[in-house]
Amino acid sequence: MGSPLLSSIARRLDGKVALITGGASGIGKSTAELFCRHGAKVMIADVKDDLAHSVCQDIGPTSASFIHCDVSNESDVQKAVDTTVSKYGALHIMFNNAGIVGSLKPNIAHDDVSEFEKVLRVNVTGVFLGTKHAARVMIPERSGSIINTASICSVVGAAAPHSYTVAKHAVLGLTKNTAVDLGRYGIRVNSVSPYLILTPLAKEFMKANELPVLTYSNLKGVELKAEDVAEATLYLGSEESKYVSGHNLVVDGGFSITNSAVSIYDQLNDQLN
Ligand SMILES: NC(=O)c1ccc[n+]([C@@H]2O[C@H](COP(=O)([O-])OP(=O)(O)OC[C@H]3O[C@@H](n4cnc5c(N)ncnc54)[C@H](O)[C@@H]3O)[C@@H](O)[C@H]2O)c1
Repeated sequence: MGSPLLSSIARRLDGKVALITGGASGIGKSTAELFCRHGAKVMIADVKDDLAHSVCQDIGPTSASFIHCDVSNESDVQKAVDTTVSKYGALHIMFNNAGIVGSLKPNIAHDDVSEFEKVLRVNVTGVFLGTKHAARVMIPERSGSIINTASICSVVGAAAPHSYTVAKHAVLGLTKNTAVDLGRYGIRVNSVSPYLILTPLAKEFMKANELPVLTYSNLKGVELKAEDVAEATLYLGSEESKYVSGHNLVVDGGFSITNSAVSIYDQLNDQLN
């Protein structure tokens, strides 16, 4: 899966180097594929070695490579950044995307503190470490784009367990704070916030918690795919978004701005029917 399908004009990441955490699956995998089609060199950092290797094989080893990296471990993240720079000569785009979701309990009184802390370690500390080490190599270059995968759970409550909602709100806070900090060095920091996509993460969560796959999307006639989030990430990584920083790009078909409890359109329809 190389880049010849797109002309050099259409390749929006020609000459760019990206590091993608959680790139072995789901949103990260789709983004790795799309970035490479747009001419980027991609390093996938993940804990699932076999899966990541096969993603790199499919994309093509000249465009994509893999490094084992647990994002909650600082020396792993440091090594992932340094290996990317030594292999490809630079780091232009850091996509802090790896994430996990905890289990759902009847209420917070049943929640387990060790699971709460684990979700925060991967979903928040992982983003912090990725940002820290990307910044370390981007600051001297006075440029770079850091993109964090948040979620609709960064802006609404009760769509996921407490730990996950807390973590994604924290990702948003970190995005804003680091956008201000790193803007002084010409580095942009943004987040992308998807609605539900049936990736392995989401499927495992639903199955483990015996939840039916219900989508409450506001936008009818279209289903959100990992590829759609990859397109949003491509925008944030490319020059097309060169003045966009500190932004949370919500990809949810209007879900998070819809309050089903007070929708005047539903009320109007009820009156008309
Ligand atoms: N699927 C959804 O509905 C949805 C919605 C909103 C946000 N997200 C977020 O999108 C991101 C990607 O999730 P996905 O849905 O593609 O799931 P996924 O399970 O398909 O991919 C997650 C990847 O992260 C990797 N990973 C997990 N822990 C890691 C660690 N400690 N270090 C390095 N890699 C690790 C996994 O091995 C996997 O390859 C996550 O941050 C998730 O919270 C997902």
